[in-house]
Amino acid sequence: MDKQILFMPYNLSGTELKNRMVMAPLTRSRSDNQEKVATTLTATYYQQRATAGLIITEGTNVSTNAVGYINVPGIYSEAQVEGWKLVTKAVHDKGGKIFAQLWHVGRLSHPDFHNGELPYAPSAINPHEKSYTQNGFVDTVTPRAMTIEEIKQTIQDFKNAAANAVAAGFDGVEIHAANGYLFHQFFNNCSNIRTDDYGGSIENKARILFDTINAIKDVIALNKVGVRLNPSMHNFMGILMDEETIPTFEYIVKRLNGYGLAYIHLTEPFVPVDDVPFAVTEIAKHFRPLYKGTLIINKGFNKATATKVLEDADADLVAFGVPFLANPDLVKRYKTDAELNKADQQTFYTPGAKGYVDYPALTV
Ligand SMILES: Cc1cc2nc3c(=O)[nH]c(=O)nc-3n(C[C@H](O)[C@H](O)[C@H](O)COP(=O)(O)O)c2cc1C
Repeated sequence: MDKQILFMPYNLSGTELKNRMVMAPLTRSRSDNQEKVATTLTATYYQQRATAGLIITEGTNVSTNAVGYINVPGIYSEAQVEGWKLVTKAVHDKGGKIFAQLWHVGRLSHPDFHNGELPYAPSAINPHEKSYTQNGFVDTVTPRAMTIEEIKQTIQDFKNAAANAVAAGFDGVEIHAANGYLFHQFFNNCSNIRTDDYGGSIENKARILFDTINAIKDVIALNKVGVRLNPSMHNFMGILMDEETIPTFEYIVKRLNGYGLAYIHLTEPFVPVDDVPFAVTEIAKHFRPLYKGTLIINKGFNKATATKVLEDADADLVAFGVPFLANPDLVKRYKTDAELNKADQQTFYTPGAKGYVDYPALTV
């Protein structure tokens, strides 16, 4: 067995991972087809990266209502389930494990995606961000505050998506509750001024996440469910922090202890927060003592820093985004201390094989 902690196997609540390197969810916008399905090209891309201990797919839309970016695959139709079967088989054939990331963008969407209708949000507050639609970059609008009925329907959409993920052969699902999207919008005061059961108190703002977990446990065992959170995000993707933000995330993380999840997946701050009075600058260190289960940490890690965070026991697994995007054989490269390919930002979201499946693997 490998002596280096990064390459040691890990038992993820019953799912055996061959190492502690996770491929972080990466939107690649390659489903440029009518039905928004994952294709054989998608399967090739993920298969190339199947030496990761665990792959978390790109964010995948739980309904047409969830859509906020062009050419993103969904997981709400039969054709989409068939597309994902190609992916899960390709990864399993190489001995990999793969979770589907379930996504709803909320107010970061645009009427261009909804026949002119306003996007859903906790409250009618414009994030003043840009949305990328068929018409290029457009300004976000003031969204519509969801009715209780619409919240319940959205929870059902997540449940349906989780059932579809099981049918498609995924090893589990990750609820995308981070990065300024729908759940995150419920958690923060900047985007949630509701006065009903889904706003006001910390417990109420977190309610949609726990309602969703309670709903999906009917279709998937909770030891196959992860939750992604980005607690210290400020002035980014429309999110602003205040004095209640970190206590909200502490409440969420502590309460998640009681659910027997596969993991929580946290990110270090995407943008510097040293000058933000309410922020926590070291996420893994801050939240590790609060959570007893598996903690995945992400953002900006390399082999050395990933090894350190695992050896310090501040996290159990490390997720790598851009390094896996550009290096299909990242595990081998880290094992052999080989150089890494450079990522080409120009092709992060462009259609086709270029910048997707053509990053070279090591030849020796
Ligand atoms: C091209 C690209 C697409 C991304 N798409 C997603 C996504 O669909 N879901 C998500 O939770 N995060 C997404 N992220 C964030 C990554 O998961 C990760 O947090 C980020 O790249 C930082 O990790 P890294 O420093 O290892 O790259 C994306 C990042 C990039 C660069």
